[in-house]
Amino acid sequence: MPDEPLVLGIETSCDETGIGIVRGHTLLADALASSVDQHARFGGVVPEVASRAHLEAMVPTMQRALDDAGVTLADIDAIAVTAGPGLAGALLVGVAAAKGYALAAEKPIYGVNHLAAHVAVDTLEHGPLPEPAIALLVSGGHSSLLLVDDLTAGVTPLGATIDDAAGEAFDKVARLLGMGFPGGPVIDRTARDGDGAAIAFPRGLTAPKDLAGHRFDFSFSGLKTAVARWVEARERSGEPVPVADVAASFQDAVCDVLTAKALDACRAHGVDTLIIGGGVAANSRLRVLAEERAAKVGVRVRVPRPKLCTDNGAMVAALGSHLVAAGVAPSRLDLPADSALPLTTVTV
Ligand code: KG4
Ligand code: ZN
Repeated sequence: MPDEPLVLGIETSCDETGIGIVRGHTLLADALASSVDQHARFGGVVPEVASRAHLEAMVPTMQRALDDAGVTLADIDAIAVTAGPGLAGALLVGVAAAKGYALAAEKPIYGVNHLAAHVAVDTLEHGPLPEPAIALLVSGGHSSLLLVDDLTAGVTPLGATIDDAAGEAFDKVARLLGMGFPGGPVIDRTARDGDGAAIAFPRGLTAPKDLAGHRFDFSFSGLKTAVARWVEARERSGEPVPVADVAASFQDAVCDVLTAKALDACRAHGVDTLIIGGGVAANSRLRVLAEERAAKVGVRVRVPRPKLCTDNGAMVAALGSHLVAAGVAPSRLDLPADSALPLTTVTV
């Protein structure tokens, strides 16, 4: 509908410079420039390199998004930008750019929470969010279970990882298997030729004694160590490492715990919608297992297409659009970037 707000979103919290443009729930542009190749040889994102790459990519990515949507900055009704959580220097580039554009074009600005944006992006694919919903957010930097009652007001954290994030575990296991960075996509591909039941890797925080204090929390560092020990033992004994089986068994361990805890959260809160977001939501095994298990207990799973699961500008625009439609007041032009922005804060 033409009278719905036209919202532009800017994302720079990690290694993707994303500019998205939406009208209501309709995606018009999703321009992305990634510095992932520049980090590959370090095996992880280097903050300083990411910040510089954002600075270089900002203006051309903005131009591409506006061209793709067939609009000019003057047509935009509001600008949303990731204010946190994320890498401090990387966030600052996006926030500074957003302020510049907002000031120059005299537009309202919304500094928004990156994690809430990972939830909001699903509206671009599946329409308005049914609330309450449970959201499972799994990426390189975060792994959380959230209760989403009202996305404009904040979300209630139910649990999170107590050590590594799920995507971080994929990246570390890929590194020890000599597969390159980022690890998620390559483990996902390799696992297709392996047997997920070949090796019984541990399921973190699922024993009854752990569930008492950590029912909705995750732990992936013990799993990563178990994979490392298993591979080392194989190498010591001179036997070949069955890489596809290791990848599939590791992936099964992660997806088993993520889906079991997410559906337990649905049950505990009487919620029948599960939204999965973040880079790991692109994982093919996670998507299939979540669907299978959810169908058995009458829960509907909403997972956006893989390109919307990883970091992008469209998700920020989607959250901005949701806030504008709900009549939420914009941020002040001196809004801060907050690398540790809590989940309870949706707009700064
Ligand atoms: O959301 P995202 O793009 O950035 C962060 O906010 O971290 O997530 C990136 C993470 C990386 O750890 C990457 O290995 C993981 O998502 N990832 C995957 C897959 N695609 C990306 N993990 C498992 N399977 C995938 N297909
Ligand atoms: Zn993210």
